[in-house]
Amino acid sequence: MTKKKVAIISVITVGVALTASYRVWLPLERPTSIQTDPVVVAEGKDIYSVQCAGCHGTALQGQPNWRQRKPDGKLPAPPQDASGHTWHHSDGDLFRIVKEGVQAFAGQDYKTDMPAFSEELKDDQIEAVIAYIKSTWPVKQRKFQEQVTASGQNQPND
Ligand code: HEC
Repeated sequence: MTKKKVAIISVITVGVALTASYRVWLPLERPTSIQTDPVVVAEGKDIYSVQCAGCHGTALQGQPNWRQRKPDGKLPAPPQDASGHTWHHSDGDLFRIVKEGVQAFAGQDYKTDMPAFSEELKDDQIEAVIAYIKSTWPVKQRKFQEQVTASGQNQPND
């Protein structure tokens, strides 16, 4: 093999390795902040009605008695509006919950009906649906959630 070929192959190998590792930590590191741009919010609203409303409610109201576990031990879908606690989570955590599902977030032993959307939704669609949910919150919840996002802290028990 010529030196040039070796050099090209090394560049490709390093490139592939970097891309692979980038993908592995991507869900943990991104996004640091999700903007509620009106165009993105409108896209997110459509995605929400198709993918999320069946469980979380067309008006983001959640399922009845959502704080009480069902006989199967799983929680009903909580509201996504200000009456729930979605706004206690940082943008990064919300992104991860939607992409990887609650189980990946809470541990393999945790039984939940919240699916992972990594197959159905692209990253920017996940960001859009979160942007839509955020856009429905009153100022108080938005400010609180902004601070949680900025602090990089999770609220683990909420
Ligand atoms: C099959 C029903 C179902 C669908 C569809 C569903 N969810 Fe959920 N979701 C749940 C349940 C149940 C929980 C509560 C999980 C738990 O704690 O066990 C949950 C929890 C969540 C949470 C965490 C909320 C919190 O306050 O901790 C977020 C965020 C969320 N869902 C977003 C979404 C989004 C966005 C979609 C659509 C892309 C979606 N969900 C679709 C059932 C569903």
